Amino acid sequence: MKKVYLHNLAVGDVLARPAYLASGRVLFDAGVEVTEEVKDTLARYGVIELYIEGDGEDPLQQEMKSDEVAKDAILPLLESYRNKTREMIEKLIIGDEVGKEEVESVVEGIIDTVAFNKNVALILSQFEDAKGTYLIPHSINATMFAVAIAKRMGYNEDDIERIGMSAMLHDVGMASILPHIDGKEELSEEEWDAVKRHTKDGVMIAKEKFDIDDELILSGIQKHHERKDGSGYPDGLSGEEIEQTSYIVMICDVYSALTTERIYRRIGSDSSIVSILRVLDVDGLERRSYLPYEAMRIIMADADRYYDVEVVKHLLYTVAIYPLGSLVMLNTGEVGRVAGTTDNPFRPKVDILVDGKGVKLKEPHRLDLSEKCNFKMYVVKGVTEEEYGLYYL
Ligand SMILES: [Fe+2]
Ligand SMILES: [Fe+2]
Repeated sequence: MKKVYLHNLAVGDVLARPAYLASGRVLFDAGVEVTEEVKDTLARYGVIELYIEGDGEDPLQQEMKSDEVAKDAILPLLESYRNKTREMIEKLIIGDEVGKEEVESVVEGIIDTVAFNKNVALILSQFEDAKGTYLIPHSINATMFAVAIAKRMGYNEDDIERIGMSAMLHDVGMASILPHIDGKEELSEEEWDAVKRHTKDGVMIAKEKFDIDDELILSGIQKHHERKDGSGYPDGLSGEEIEQTSYIVMICDVYSALTTERIYRRIGSDSSIVSILRVLDVDGLERRSYLPYEAMRIIMADADRYYDVEVVKHLLYTVAIYPLGSLVMLNTGEVGRVAGTTDNPFRPKVDILVDGKGVKLKEPHRLDLSEKCNFKMYVVKGVTEEEYGLYYL
């Protein structure tokens, strides 16, 4: 006998235990063979978990296990990219030469990681950098998104790598300024000017220290703070004066800036630098970090005005709006933990932990919100563990 969820139930399976309604009434008895009609009826009555004859594991459990395997494989890789990126930035800070190959090898590694498990969220949800500055996770996160988006958009391998390089180096102009402003709560006007020059300084560093003369890479660095309506800086470029590849770097910078700080804050690192960089990246927004779905909402509200709509659309499908392991509330009032992604970024698989009346369930039950039978349910909002009370869950 094995336990399966409704959407994994196949025609021909035989029920090993009766299918009960919430009221306790038996809907189908043990021994009933599953047909399309049986499945429809189960769906209509909201029966989600069933026991069927046979051995083995529920495919959903297997799926979760393979994600675990991916996590184990990916974490050490991430650790090495972090170290390489940190070394690179430290070299820049003390004015050492850095080879183009060093950036290439980090970016190539990230491309492989994304290809290994396209669930970028899975990787990122694990991403912490206890020792580094905001610049390191910010650059790596931006690169991961950039690579994944470029891939989704059908760019060739060569361009994917160039877009990734651009994202990796987009804030490299900050490296030489950081030591001067590190730890400061307030910046002088001159220091602010220096900070605001980081896009142009970045281009210079890329050319001189990394020996990069590739226009695609340099444009992404130079233009990541421009905006489609001309309101950005340093040159107030607009519309098609900004290439699509630069729009990719731009959106990944914004998304990463909106979401990275949370991780950073939690580990208690210096927050003044975070605030400074955040003001630059996402000016005008409250200085806090956003949950992925909040970040996506902020971006989408301005998609038409600031960004390339096509690129935003691909970001939407690249990031897990509700990352694995995060808590969400459904329109039914139920609260659950995201247990898997589906084709629809707004409709993940959720393990329901608390019912609509706020009562903690003895055992969580899994809902796949992308399944037709669950179409009336949807995620209303993400909830944080702090806000919901982890002790309770
Ligand atoms: Fe920047
Ligand atoms: Fe940035």
